[in-house]
Amino acid sequence: MSRVLLAVSASAALHKACDLASKLTQEGHEVRTLMTANAARLISPQLFEAMTGQAARVSEFEGEREGGMDHITLARWGESLVFAPATAGALARLAHGDASDLIGTVVLALQPSTPRLLCPAMNPTMYAHPAVQRNLEQCRADGWQVLDPGSGRLACDEEGTGRLREVPEILQRVRELLG
Ligand SMILES: Cc1cc2nc3c(=O)[nH]c(=O)nc-3n(C[C@H](O)[C@H](O)[C@H](O)COP(=O)(O)O)c2cc1C
Repeated sequence: MSRVLLAVSASAALHKACDLASKLTQEGHEVRTLMTANAARLISPQLFEAMTGQAARVSEFEGEREGGMDHITLARWGESLVFAPATAGALARLAHGDASDLIGTVVLALQPSTPRLLCPAMNPTMYAHPAVQRNLEQCRADGWQVLDPGSGRLACDEEGTGRLREVPEILQRVRELLG
């Protein structure tokens, strides 16, 4: 099938990314998980490794390495990139081309033609904030497809728009992304 980079950041919806990683793997994709440092504090990289059978990476400066410059190696490896869940912080970094972590560096090193899907997740007040909406617009302009969050009750016990889409909906968009 194909080689998918799954980027995850520190959201209450992170548990859904484990299921997504598992389902993508079951569909026959090779999945490499890239985690922010904060995501790796919420869920161990080991769980993603168990779901995908592949090393999950947080940094290219520690742990096992692919070679000399892992951001380049990983960007060449990925045939698509799915960022789910993407926090407000992650959107801000992407919108600014921030390369201060592994995910941001890999994103900049991807070929422009590599399909990429962004799945935001956050509290409704955060999601409605003009800065977040501005960052999302910038990401769209930079070539990201965006799966808009859904509405309902969130982990923060508020109603509104900001829920990470359910795994089957994300899977459907990934299938469309991969053509
Ligand atoms: C349990 C928990 C859940 C969180 N959920 C979200 C979330 O869904 N969306 C979001 O934008 N921030 C959320 N935050 C705040 C982010 O984790 C925080 O902004 C952090 O700096 C983001 O780091 P990262 O983007 O590098 O992963 C959450 C924080 C905690 C402790």
